[in-house]
Amino acid sequence: MSSSLAVDLSLPKEEKYKVLQPQMKALFEGESNLIANMANCAAVLKEAFGFLWCGFYLVDGDELVLGPFQGPLACTRLYKGKGVCAAAWERNEIVLVPDVEAFPGHVACSSASKSEIVLPLRNTAGEVIAVLDIDSDVLNDFDHIDQVGLASILNCL
Ligand code: SME
Repeated sequence: MSSSLAVDLSLPKEEKYKVLQPQMKALFEGESNLIANMANCAAVLKEAFGFLWCGFYLVDGDELVLGPFQGPLACTRLYKGKGVCAAAWERNEIVLVPDVEAFPGHVACSSASKSEIVLPLRNTAGEVIAVLDIDSDVLNDFDHIDQVGLASILNCL
């Protein structure tokens, strides 16, 4: 993959995910370091979709610690039982939050964040090793298309 993103930014998001997935797969296959691949993953998602914040939190014992991301300064650590990222980790499932104000215990790293989607990244044993957190400054900005598209990209990591 060249260093520039080969996606038409005017495409509908479903098409963008379809165009990006094979490019990211090829990119990740060329590098075995997970952190390096997470960093490029966050960069590509930010550039392609213009999300407010997108990045990874890594499972670190009983906590989540900030990993590669794009966007404003974020909380360094997140804790079990509190927030959307922790919920995705503990439930081992995608959590889609149309309105962060309505999610009990939501951790507001930025007051600009209005909606959010968090996907677990699993190892081959099915255990969660990290989560991909994406925040939008628009209410109800994520749907089934994002769930499927982002999961297909995470599968390549
Ligand atoms: N809102 C997240 C915290 C992480 S920041 O949004 C980057 C949560 O509730 O877990």
